[in-house]
Amino acid sequence: MAETPTVDRDYVLGTRDQETLRLGFQHEAWAPIAHECWIRSGISEGDRVIDVGAGPGYAAFDLARLVGDRGHVTAVERSSRFVEAGRAMARGRGAANVEFVELDLMTDALPPGQYDAAWCRWVCSFVDSPVVLLRKVAEALVPGGVAMFHEYVDYASWRFSPSLPLVEEYIGLVMQSWREAGGEPDVATSIPPILALHGFEIERVEPRVYCVRPADPMWSWISTFVESNLSRLVELETCGADWARAVRTEFRAAQADPETLMITPMVLEVVARRKSV
Ligand SMILES: C[S@@+](CC[C@H](N)C(=O)[O-])C[C@H]1O[C@@H](n2cnc3c(N)ncnc32)[C@H](O)[C@@H]1O
Repeated sequence: MAETPTVDRDYVLGTRDQETLRLGFQHEAWAPIAHECWIRSGISEGDRVIDVGAGPGYAAFDLARLVGDRGHVTAVERSSRFVEAGRAMARGRGAANVEFVELDLMTDALPPGQYDAAWCRWVCSFVDSPVVLLRKVAEALVPGGVAMFHEYVDYASWRFSPSLPLVEEYIGLVMQSWREAGGEPDVATSIPPILALHGFEIERVEPRVYCVRPADPMWSWISTFVESNLSRLVELETCGADWARAVRTEFRAAQADPETLMITPMVLEVVARRKSV
């Protein structure tokens, strides 16, 4: 099916159909880890949750199931393409307790609401100011409300054994491309002190890093990223097509060997609760 060309507020990884699908694969691999985070943080039936930078809303739909009909999920997102995809999925799934709101976290206010929880995954790396984002999240939560983050803390921890020189060069280029777009891959360490300044108690700061082989679902998370992101970097003229092809070839050869090991880029889970005054 041909993609409908629309003007969109893009981000460095793109917002085309391929990126919508990739975010779905990514969520599938990470869904058990996200669920564990939500349950440990006390998210339950009837809660009102805001999904900050929700993309097409894969996590938002899972959160909506968790909070049930008496609860509500507000998914906020800048890309109109992702918002449209999310609304179409909501209609298809009959998910009446998820609402998508198109907004820019840097310039717009969050939809007013007394939120019990905020979920924010892989967004702080892509905004101009995590301080602005975190202030908005802090102000949106009720006293006792919980803010939950999965953000990268050490992107260069993404390594292979045996090592893959071209792919490791590519990982440096990915980080560079995010920085050139105004973001910061290793953003997670800045989150706890900012939340503490806003009257939050830090409940949990834990790394999430996995050592996997090609048959592991976590490998598919990375392989779908590499395949689509190399095309994106060529499109953005961050690298040449020949070099991208060479990186892909090296990655695919490693993937064909079931014994290859990959250490995933390290994510930090940060959970903090707004103090009751
Ligand atoms: C890597 S995706 C993660 C999406 C989703 N949180 C997930 O875990 O699947 C990053 C998302 O942040 C959104 N984003 C980036 N900058 C934004 C901004 N200034 N305001 C709102 N959303 C933004 C992008 O459009 C994209 O959907």
